[in-house]
Amino acid sequence: MPRGERAPLVIAIDGPAAVGKGTLARRLADHYDLRHLDTGALYRATAIRLLRVNGDPSQEAAAEAAARNIGDVDLHDPALRGEEVGQAASVVAAHGAVRRALLDYQRAFAAEPPGAVLDGRDIGTVVCPDAQVKIYLEATPEVRARRRLCELRSRGVESIESRVLEEIIARDARDRRRSAAPLKPAADASRIDTSALGPDEVFERAVATADSRLSSS
Ligand code: DC
Repeated sequence: MPRGERAPLVIAIDGPAAVGKGTLARRLADHYDLRHLDTGALYRATAIRLLRVNGDPSQEAAAEAAARNIGDVDLHDPALRGEEVGQAASVVAAHGAVRRALLDYQRAFAAEPPGAVLDGRDIGTVVCPDAQVKIYLEATPEVRARRRLCELRSRGVESIESRVLEEIIARDARDRRRSAAPLKPAADASRIDTSALGPDEVFERAVATADSRLSSS
């Protein structure tokens, strides 16, 4: 089949907070010439829209209305990266109505040729269950807290390591325990523990995994 007629190539990257999904997803998108969607930014955009009008993230109807109105939020706005927004994103993400509101956009993005790399929590399980390549990243909460701390410091945000660790543990618990599309590896995902790996090693393992999946599909 000519390249242009092939089904779009979809690579799903899932895993908990601060595990390195974004870095890997961007590099894979570059490597395979695909577009990239950071799906966490959609939940963060929903949260920031709500916080700006003093809305309560635990209220499903208000959160759903915010999710349906994120069109004018810049998904690359550095304000989305704040810890308060991340926590609120994790609260709005537990509402089924919010997840449904954001689903079509994610699927349409993935379906557009030549395909895309999507990173999030439920890409391989719910958003793109037919993705040709699924990778689930994991690392201990302590390692992720240290990485998040370095990232915050590089942006000039001073934080305390024990506080960052607590926030990561709280967010993990909420993302894993919710009933709507909880964080978990898809049965057919390749798991990579990044605790002792640098970004280049993670990238090399992911490319090896993707190439072997693609050559056998
Ligand atoms: O990846 P992140 O930290 O930017 O995500 C922010 C929150 O959004 C996260 O705590 C859970 C939620 N999220 C989700 O539920 N499903 C996704 N596909 C992506 C993010």
